[in-house]
Amino acid sequence: MASYPELQGRVALVTGGASGLGLAAAETLARQGVHVAVADLDAGAAARAVAALPGGGHLALGGDVAREADVQRFAGAVLERHGRIDVLINSAGIPDSFQPTLAQDVADFRRLVDVHLTGTYMATKAVVPAMLRQQRGSVINLGSVAGVLGLAPRNAYSAAKAGIGMLTRTMGCEWAAEGIRVNAIAPGYMLTPFAQKLIDEGKLDAQRIRRRTPAGRLGTAQHIADAMAFLASDASAFITGVTLPVDGGYMAWGAASDAYAGPLD
Ligand SMILES: NC(=O)c1ccc[n+]([C@@H]2O[C@H](COP(=O)([O-])OP(=O)(O)OC[C@H]3O[C@@H](n4cnc5c(N)ncnc54)[C@H](O)[C@@H]3O)[C@@H](O)[C@H]2O)c1
Repeated sequence: MASYPELQGRVALVTGGASGLGLAAAETLARQGVHVAVADLDAGAAARAVAALPGGGHLALGGDVAREADVQRFAGAVLERHGRIDVLINSAGIPDSFQPTLAQDVADFRRLVDVHLTGTYMATKAVVPAMLRQQRGSVINLGSVAGVLGLAPRNAYSAAKAGIGMLTRTMGCEWAAEGIRVNAIAPGYMLTPFAQKLIDEGKLDAQRIRRRTPAGRLGTAQHIADAMAFLASDASAFITGVTLPVDGGYMAWGAASDAYAGPLD
């Protein structure tokens, strides 16, 4: 893991930080000396995650990113404890229904867009006033290969992730001159509880994914957390408005054949 000494003593709010990619980010930032607030729908899991983090000054918060009052409470609690927020990671997320379009429930569509897209928008809106006062901050959103490639029938998820890619650009441009950077990471298929559940339910085929991925394997949460630490650090000071694929080459591949022909153990 790269070391970013400037992160020592900074403050991060990680939504969805009790599991998967958000949890890996919380652990990675805490190892760099960052005070981390883990905000999650599952308040108990957030408390357990925080109890296990290295270092101190961490905070567990329960709530729903799709509720504006909750995200404002998250930001207020972090500011009350630390007086600043240097990093926001918008990692709260839910899977979509995988139903064909005509069978999709509009309520499911709305909930997914509310959590991913509106949640990312509202959490950023709650945190950026503090970053503007500081004239510094890094917002890191979670996109997906699904926000770029057409993965039918994942309508709501794909539309929300594509929207997050554009929010990343518009907000990145809006605050660039004031020291606030907004970037996104587009993970490929990473083996987290989120992905493992979809594999177990037969909604994702891990062997097919490996054949479709030039690297020949699924990624790990740590691959994403390492990219997040870079985007949180001053090493990425002139990078804003971008969506960085961290996907083992998945989005780069366009040929009709398998991308990986090696053994599948
Ligand atoms: N794992 C992958 O392969 C992958 C690939 C591409 C994108 N992503 C994205 O990365 C993000 C994190 O995914 P993950 O794999 O870590 O999932 P995960 O299920 O392991 O973790 C998601 C966390 O978000 C929390 N959460 C869900 N709804 C919430 C809400 N309304 N308010 C607050 N917290 C909420 C959950 O309780 C959970 O702790 C998601 O946005 C997901 O779409 C994941």
